[in-house]
Amino acid sequence: MRSYLSKMVTSTQLPEREERAEHIADAGYNVFNLSSSDVFIDLLTDSGTGTMSDEQWAALFRGDEAYAGSSSFEALEDAVKSVMGFEHVVPAHQGRGAENVLYGTLFESDDVVPNNTHFDTTRAHVANAGAEPVDCPVDGAMDPDASGDFKGNLDIDAVRSLVEDRGAASVPAIILTITNNSAAGQPVSVENTRKASDLADELDVPLVIDACRFAENAYFVTQREPGYEDATVAEVAREQLSYADALVMSAKKDGITNIGGFVAVRDPELFERVKQRAILYEGFSTYGGMAGRDIEALAVGLQEAVEDEYVAQRIGQTQELGERLAAAGAPIYQPLGGHAVYLDAEALLSHLPLAKYPGQALVVELYREGGVRGVELGSFAFPDTDRPELVRLALPRRRYHREHLDHIVETVTAVMEHAESVPGYEVVWEPPRKELRHFSAELEPV
Ligand SMILES: Cc1ncc(COP(=O)(O)O)c(C=O)c1O
Repeated sequence: MRSYLSKMVTSTQLPEREERAEHIADAGYNVFNLSSSDVFIDLLTDSGTGTMSDEQWAALFRGDEAYAGSSSFEALEDAVKSVMGFEHVVPAHQGRGAENVLYGTLFESDDVVPNNTHFDTTRAHVANAGAEPVDCPVDGAMDPDASGDFKGNLDIDAVRSLVEDRGAASVPAIILTITNNSAAGQPVSVENTRKASDLADELDVPLVIDACRFAENAYFVTQREPGYEDATVAEVAREQLSYADALVMSAKKDGITNIGGFVAVRDPELFERVKQRAILYEGFSTYGGMAGRDIEALAVGLQEAVEDEYVAQRIGQTQELGERLAAAGAPIYQPLGGHAVYLDAEALLSHLPLAKYPGQALVVELYREGGVRGVELGSFAFPDTDRPELVRLALPRRRYHREHLDHIVETVTAVMEHAESVPGYEVVWEPPRKELRHFSAELEPV
């Protein structure tokens, strides 16, 4: 069983109730506008918010800041090769930088790109390259109550229909996002990955895996997929990624670093094209916008991410939080995903119609009640789409302890107790780009 000892601490303070009410009003009822020093428990994201190990901190000192060909880059190449099975790596400053580099190289106008579900930045980069992003999740992926071990899977038949409709020549790649962040962090099976790879081979296009949470996905496979009961997380990760022709990676997740990312490819010719675009947007192809010390810490983080005991503890914490919230009567997306617990705000604040943003109302109330910052992923973040009204409580890696889980459960329970008095909201200001409005829009209670 894995546990962690503290070597350095940061103190946090729960602001008084009246102060919290003032802070959230000053923030225009949008938690992205809060100062982190006013947040007691920050569950906004698991991206770049984890705690590095002592080995990673030690690695920082080995950082080689050479502009080209640094030894830190060689350490990253070795780690990507041994953990993920890819020879050719191009660093990027974070996941969306990697997406820009790979998708800008692969896609052209009028292409159509299937994905189990595009994450926001993926969707934006596919569209930015002139292509059309099409989500092909399996049935039930968007239903918080549907059962299923691999609700993150790609609907292979839906991809086939898309190919028939639009013509094989307009599909330049298939993307598989593991775990499926936009479908409540649900995992993708190895079997589904193999089928996606077979289809990509038939079409003679690359299978790209968005590998942000590849280790968490592999853990679910060991727990749920027949035939993998005795496999290690590292073995499953290697096998699952072996079906991909290219990877995009935000190292801020399963690289357990605070910043960074990379593209990895098999084809030497694609590698050359990716390097050229990386030089244009990210930096020379052996540092790609990252400091050598961060690359060095990433090389260590990737190896830690596939340690069985680490990932069991990591997913175990999410499961524990979810099970305790469910036991307290909170409506949550089932089954629990890897990096977050998703509350069903439409059920929790059932007196509020969708037009009054129950998800955002719940996010505001969690802050007002307990200084807990979650994020809305429903009608406020994704206007004009048919998504469940979810509030995500994302757990940073190796950061919080059981006393924090206690506080989160108490906060959600207290909100449930006075749910009927929670007001709805209206948007009073939004930026011109509606798809990005939840980052900066302002609201008022109605
Ligand atoms: C599945 C997925 N892809 C891509 C990204 C983008 O990564 P980054 O935030 O490092 O740019 C994220 C970030 O949350 C993600 O979850």
